[in-house]
Amino acid sequence: MLAVPYDCPPTLTDEQVLDFCANGYVMIEGAVPDEINRRTVEWLAEHEESEPTSILREPWFVDAVIKNPRAAGAVRSLLGAEFKLPVVMSQHRGACPCPAGGWHRDGGSIVTRRLDYLQVFYCPQDTPRESGPTEVVPGSQFIRGKATYMGHYGRIAASVSTACRAGTIFLTDYAIWHRRAEATSTGTRHLLKYNYWRTAEPRRDWIADPEFNFSTKRVTATGPKRWAVEALFEQFQLEIAAVERFAWLCGIADWRFLGGQCWPVLPTVHEGDEQEGIPRELVRRAAALQASA
Ligand SMILES: [Fe+2]
Repeated sequence: MLAVPYDCPPTLTDEQVLDFCANGYVMIEGAVPDEINRRTVEWLAEHEESEPTSILREPWFVDAVIKNPRAAGAVRSLLGAEFKLPVVMSQHRGACPCPAGGWHRDGGSIVTRRLDYLQVFYCPQDTPRESGPTEVVPGSQFIRGKATYMGHYGRIAASVSTACRAGTIFLTDYAIWHRRAEATSTGTRHLLKYNYWRTAEPRRDWIADPEFNFSTKRVTATGPKRWAVEALFEQFQLEIAAVERFAWLCGIADWRFLGGQCWPVLPTVHEGDEQEGIPRELVRRAAALQASA
């Protein structure tokens, strides 16, 4: 089956795209209707293979899940127009209870400022912590860890759970560190996984705000584990990596971090002065530079 280009309205804002760049994942809670969730679980009960790719031939599934307006809109925001739809479906069927899986990056991972594809997960059931939902380490998409080593790690303080309600879809950078959490409940957990691919040159054509002030925006991990995530990096290196990714997504191919106190590092700058290293394409009002708190 050939990958089919698809387009739809983008749904992410500048803030949300920046957030994805830093964290490496985004949750789209409850995106799929309950009727489709139930139908998917019933379909999976009759198709027990680990790669049930034939579900991509089911129009009800493709329309409600693969082309889901909220999830595909997020994909459209990050991969641009005419992105390719998945041609392979993987099913992580998990018998509960079970111990936690090993931390890893999926095979074929590369660490790069480019974003040419996304790994996407669909949870057709309620997936509470007891059922062993996937855990991810925000920001780890920029850390060149070897799966042969990280598989021996135990709990990582910076990790977050993707526990969610039925119908949730989450998008990830393929290189993000992740594992299945320990499951203490009983029954079967379903988790479908598939990839979308970029065809368009990157440009800032998501829901962009021309007034968004990048010059004073601190780009870093968000959420309750923010400080633990930052502790994984040398000072400023997460935001530098995230901004390199963001600049690439904006189509600013020649922007590079110059080093030292240049943007996106945010030292105190007097109004009217201009910090080194800011991509002019992103900053309309250089005079509005403010000291970061
Ligand atoms: Fe994996």
